[in-house]
Amino acid sequence: MQNVKNYLSENKDRFLNELIELLKIPSVSADPAFSQDVIDTAESVKLSLQEAGCDVVEIHETAGYPIVYGEKIINPDLPTVLVYGHYDVQPADPIDLWHSPPFEPVIKKTDTHPEGAIYARGACDDKGQMYMHVKALELMVKTGQLPCNVKFMIEGEEEVGSNNLGIYVAENKEKLSNDVILISDTGMIANDIPSITTGLRGLSYVEVEVTGPNRDLHSGLYGGAVANPINILAKMIASLHDDNNHITIPGFYDKVEELSSDERAAMAKAPFNLDSYKNALDIDSVYGEKGYTTNERNAIRPTLDVNGIWGGYIGEGAKTVIASKAYAKISMRLVPNQDWKEITELFKTHFEAIAPKGVTVKVKPHHGGQGYVTPIDTIAYQAASKAYETTFGKTPIPQRSGGSIPIVSLFEKELGSKTILMGFGLDSDAIHSPNEHFGVWNYFKGIETIPYFYQYFTEMSK
Ligand code: BES
Ligand code: MN
Ligand code: MN
Repeated sequence: MQNVKNYLSENKDRFLNELIELLKIPSVSADPAFSQDVIDTAESVKLSLQEAGCDVVEIHETAGYPIVYGEKIINPDLPTVLVYGHYDVQPADPIDLWHSPPFEPVIKKTDTHPEGAIYARGACDDKGQMYMHVKALELMVKTGQLPCNVKFMIEGEEEVGSNNLGIYVAENKEKLSNDVILISDTGMIANDIPSITTGLRGLSYVEVEVTGPNRDLHSGLYGGAVANPINILAKMIASLHDDNNHITIPGFYDKVEELSSDERAAMAKAPFNLDSYKNALDIDSVYGEKGYTTNERNAIRPTLDVNGIWGGYIGEGAKTVIASKAYAKISMRLVPNQDWKEITELFKTHFEAIAPKGVTVKVKPHHGGQGYVTPIDTIAYQAASKAYETTFGKTPIPQRSGGSIPIVSLFEKELGSKTILMGFGLDSDAIHSPNEHFGVWNYFKGIETIPYFYQYFTEMSK
């Protein structure tokens, strides 16, 4: 690969400005108020793929938000890389906690990002990381070094469960055929400790509703004599973990894969500092399942967490009331082999079973997906590893992540291909939180590293 660095340094400002423009469009897929913006973002991604050198670029309408497809096929006998990413973003709430408006990107220097970081919703998840691939393609095309075929599939519904992408993939297997899927929508350990994500957790997301009396009641007149749905919900939720922080749903762990002691020892070698971890979060202690380390708890073990809980009076001052209903949103992060539909059923059966007399319980499944583990003895992993060695001067560490990209296991099922997760974000980049950001250094490092993946993957495939 000639001139990668030259092309990059000659175009740095433009690469940054283009990303900033993309970040200005509030493509929040969860909130219908932003639907036109989400559609506009698809259009903008389409244009950028055309400008980067794709020969074919299409917007595929779905029952939800469109999928942008692009390709550049230089020779059918050469390997094909399929790039996946998403142009939708999480809601920006709570807006008050942002130091600058979420859709007015600014670059600020921080201790972690001394060369500056772009602050905006979607900067890291996933517009910034997705756009690295568009710019890497531009770089390879414009310098005459694209070594193989490339396809892009950029969706607008990842943050709301990718429901329509599954249909698109199943209906377009031939069109999407590829030798490897490449995604930058995860993270790495640190800028001087590159890592490649080798696993994602699955997910089951449910909402529960507990109903007591047919109306809100005076908490003096009725208090103590009828079931209070909020008390009951709190008790039911508390019972879902035992004293060892083990999940109590019968059958929940049946299919959980136990790692061998060798595998756990290998995991423990990854650099991790518990004090910095605690300091970064302002907590005096970590908390979790007995018998497992922090990195095991957040990557290879399943979890159950309440994401939101509400009911009753939460306005100013005090109101004495027993609410008729209480609600919670609960996510379960799953590990490979746990089937998300099966777990959702187990949750529903158990949660209904533990409801005491005096309330009724409804469990509404939202969305979910399977976990994923990628093998490291493949050409694709070796090529990715070598690409990082070239640009970081270090061998990347394989590391399983706790996050979920449910569509990845579906890609394997439908298209038969493995995914390589080359993430360039950091856990501290505050994805899904106020003040999300993405290091400028990380953005350019991604654009620099990706072309080497193409090169090595093509060479090793011969
Ligand atoms: N990019 C994230 C997932 C991620 C981030 C994986 C960092 C590993 C490291 C993705 O956009 C995401 O937020 N996924 C959701 C699930 C989805 C169904 C809404 C998640 O993990 O909560
Ligand atoms: Mn993402
Ligand atoms: Mn996300």
